[in-house]
Amino acid sequence: MLTPLKITETDKKPLLRVLRGETLDAPPVWLMRQAGRYLPEYREVRDTVGGFLDLCYAPALATEVTLQPIRRFGFDAAILFADILVVPDALGQSVRFEGGEGPKLEPIRNVGELGGLRLEGIHDRLAPIYETVSRLSESLPDNTALIGFAGAPWTVATYMVEGASSRDFVHTRGWALEDPGGFAWLIGIIGDATVEYLCRQVEAGAEILQLFDSWAGVLAQDEFRRWVVEPTARLTAAVKKRHPGVPIIGFPRSAGPLYEDYVANAGVDAISLDSAVPLDWAVKRLQARLPVQGNLDPLLLLAGGDAMERGIREILAALSGGPFIFNLGHGIIKETPPDHVAQLMEVVRGWAASG
Ligand code: CP3
Repeated sequence: MLTPLKITETDKKPLLRVLRGETLDAPPVWLMRQAGRYLPEYREVRDTVGGFLDLCYAPALATEVTLQPIRRFGFDAAILFADILVVPDALGQSVRFEGGEGPKLEPIRNVGELGGLRLEGIHDRLAPIYETVSRLSESLPDNTALIGFAGAPWTVATYMVEGASSRDFVHTRGWALEDPGGFAWLIGIIGDATVEYLCRQVEAGAEILQLFDSWAGVLAQDEFRRWVVEPTARLTAAVKKRHPGVPIIGFPRSAGPLYEDYVANAGVDAISLDSAVPLDWAVKRLQARLPVQGNLDPLLLLAGGDAMERGIREILAALSGGPFIFNLGHGIIKETPPDHVAQLMEVVRGWAASG
């Protein structure tokens, strides 16, 4: 007779089971941007600090806002409360968030301007974030997994080069085309800092990592290979060299058919789908290789009601036959009524019960 495998505490967490390839009757669920301005209790904490980054660097407050959506909705995972732009901030580039607008950075537009970035000492600046991770790993319920995260090099580079959110990425794509060697240097600096940052999160207690590549979808096939897939592959290999067991979820948002190249070559363990990815295609081409996560349109969550319920059921029907994590296709929109999130949870949790 076989000796039963020893079940450890972590093995019981549904999210970790799915990431190891299991198909569960009841898919685990968490939502991108589950902590944030749509919650009144978040806005209350947010109002006690000056800038948004001050909240990211305040372990007690960042821990509290990470836990708020767990208490309210009972998600299967908590995601560290921080931002992808703490990496450029730690590298010495000035990053500010002003008056509810997007981020403002002092742009870096060519290789001559890379001199101001410093890898040494980044952990001094990032230490409060590791402290938040370790507080969270002490305070989460037993079945709740802890997700650490970072921006992928390409997406972080777009903010560093444009200096703000962008629509056309003229400066970033221009630099990458005109001086690929110099741009590769920037991508390399971000990659090195991010490997260190993610490894420290794991050492502080993060059980899963997610890489946000929100602007992966603006690149043509060859550029996608060079600036999304290859830097991500180097990053995942370096993190896994130090922490072989930690699952990494990749999110190359809006990559369309290039999702396939990413799944085959970026070294991730699971793939997060944006809302435009067709479900039947995802089952055949992606879920056949890796666990998938996604992909309810955040606008349906904003709308709520029957439209949302239909959208949720379609996704569950299509994807829950294999390893699957229910999520959105992008972050929660700040106008979303919290009641709609409660309704989403009822439908997803009710799915398994209804067989
Ligand atoms: O709950 C969670 O998901 C964890 C927290 C989290 C935040 N940002 C908090 C945040 C995560 C995972 C991010 C990732 C992030 N940040 C991404 C990748 C995902 C995506 O949405 O595409 C990007 C591109 C950023 C950069 C960023 N941060 C922008 C462009 C903005 C301004 C736009 C906006 O929504 O306000 C932010 C600010 C930000 N990051 C807020 C929060 C809660 C709002 C700021 C505030 O509360 O004052």
